[in-house]
Amino acid sequence: MQLIPIGISKMVKVEVIMREYSIVMNNVQKRFGGIHALKSVDLKVKKGSIHALVGENGAGKSTLMKVLSGIYIKDGGKITIDGQEVHFTTPRQSQEHNIGIIHQELALSKDLSVAENIFLSDLGFGGALVSTKKINRLAKLALDQLGFDIHPSTRLGDLSIAYQQMVEIAKSLAKNVNILILDEPTAILSEKEIDVLFDKLRALRDKGVTIIYISHRLDEIFKLTDAITVIKDGETVIELDPETCTENDIICSMVGRQFNQLFPEKQIPSEEVVLEVINLNTAKLLRNININVKKGEIVGLAGIIGAGRTEIARCLFGIDLIASGEIKKNGKTLHINNPADAVKLGIGLVPESRKEQGAILSRPIRENITLSNLKKTGSTFGIINRLKEITISNEFRKRLAIKLGSIEDPISSLSGGNQQKVVIAKWLNTDCDVLILDEPTRGVDVGAKSEIYNIILELTQKGYAILIISSELMEIIGLCHRTYVMSEGEIAGELIGDDMTEKNIMRMALPKRALI
Ligand SMILES: Nc1ncnc2c1ncn2[C@@H]1O[C@H](COP(=O)(O)OP(=O)(O)OP(=O)(O)O)[C@@H](O)[C@H]1O
Ligand SMILES: [Mg+2]
Repeated sequence: MQLIPIGISKMVKVEVIMREYSIVMNNVQKRFGGIHALKSVDLKVKKGSIHALVGENGAGKSTLMKVLSGIYIKDGGKITIDGQEVHFTTPRQSQEHNIGIIHQELALSKDLSVAENIFLSDLGFGGALVSTKKINRLAKLALDQLGFDIHPSTRLGDLSIAYQQMVEIAKSLAKNVNILILDEPTAILSEKEIDVLFDKLRALRDKGVTIIYISHRLDEIFKLTDAITVIKDGETVIELDPETCTENDIICSMVGRQFNQLFPEKQIPSEEVVLEVINLNTAKLLRNININVKKGEIVGLAGIIGAGRTEIARCLFGIDLIASGEIKKNGKTLHINNPADAVKLGIGLVPESRKEQGAILSRPIRENITLSNLKKTGSTFGIINRLKEITISNEFRKRLAIKLGSIEDPISSLSGGNQQKVVIAKWLNTDCDVLILDEPTRGVDVGAKSEIYNIILELTQKGYAILIISSELMEIIGLCHRTYVMSEGEIAGELIGDDMTEKNIMRMALPKRALI
């Protein structure tokens, strides 16, 4: 007789959990050959909540979300959606459960228009019959709702990657989803777009949508999320409450050790100007740019997306040509017609898009790290010293804690953040003395961020002049001696030392028409 009440209470309990939680994952496992990407992950996400998933690069976050969205098939474990056990083997099955995912690596078609990309998966067999006018109208609506100023008929490949990311977000939000996964959606967005996105996500949550949010920006986690699950090396470490935990609590459970200071102490730069840009104009965007960087100095370029920061980097590196103006190094006028010229003149660039410009995805990690400095690897006579390549690659692998199976694996097998570390390593391993870094730590975990900052500091001690483009204002403030703030293709102002505050930067960065 006693068994009945226990049985009933158990059943009631199970039902409460089913109603309360939209997603329950137990002991989920996934292997890629010899790599045990997910050893045992448990995750419980409440219905109508925003749940953060955090962990170091390579911890298994993207893999777990790809399992949840049917892209990868799990090797073991149990997944329940709204109380019903599921076994997804294709993405379509997860879509049928109204699960949407915004991927870390953009998964759009460059040759299609913005509108076609937003509605592509919905075109189905009737694709050819769908009116361009109609999808343009619907896409405009979706983009306008997010406050994204993008024309629906533009070819996607003509947009910068930040805008492409916005299209990816609009695409997911245009669908009716019950569960939305965002895998580092803001890595390349700046404050203004992030605010709009967050408002939209909160509105979705209030309508009952369950959201899983992956980010390495801890300030976002506190601003946005209702619960945090930390994973490390393919296992769940802890669930934390953002109301009560501190940033340090998250970092400690992520990296498994105490963490003291993110930014190294600033050193005093020399007075010697190394890089000088004088009255630079381009046909497209840049107007009258005047900037300089001194020896040993770290200078920031802040601004919202489309302000022209990347364009300056592209001109300095010979990707875009200048219409008028001058670029000088150590007092001498430079003629840079292509990236090879720039490298010869001692200018290096860590580009914003690692997929297109930074890495050769199919080649081994070893080659990717050493490619930009054939001198160091002894290629004077055209022969690359493989042993040196291996030594250098292993050195960087250790310093940046790059999580990989073997340096002979292709870079494409690495997690997003670990790919970024390889690209950074490649440029930190050059002989240039002017280094431009475009969003160097995007998608990189805190431990590696701090290591990258230390390497940048070491480079300045060697006399490098460093120009950093970053959308993370704390990075500009914590790392740079000075920053220029760009707005609409112009330098809106310059801030030095303590005047570099979030407020001052944002005030200068906003387009003038936004202030009227
Ligand atoms: N397709 C694949 N083939 C081989 N190994 C893979 C593949 N996808 C992921 N891995 C490995 O699985 C592990 C987990 O990777 P995952 O991409 O899930 O990490 P992550 O937590 O998303 O990291 P990041 O913060 O850098 O994006 C890594 O060691 C990665 O190299
Ligand atoms: Mg990832």
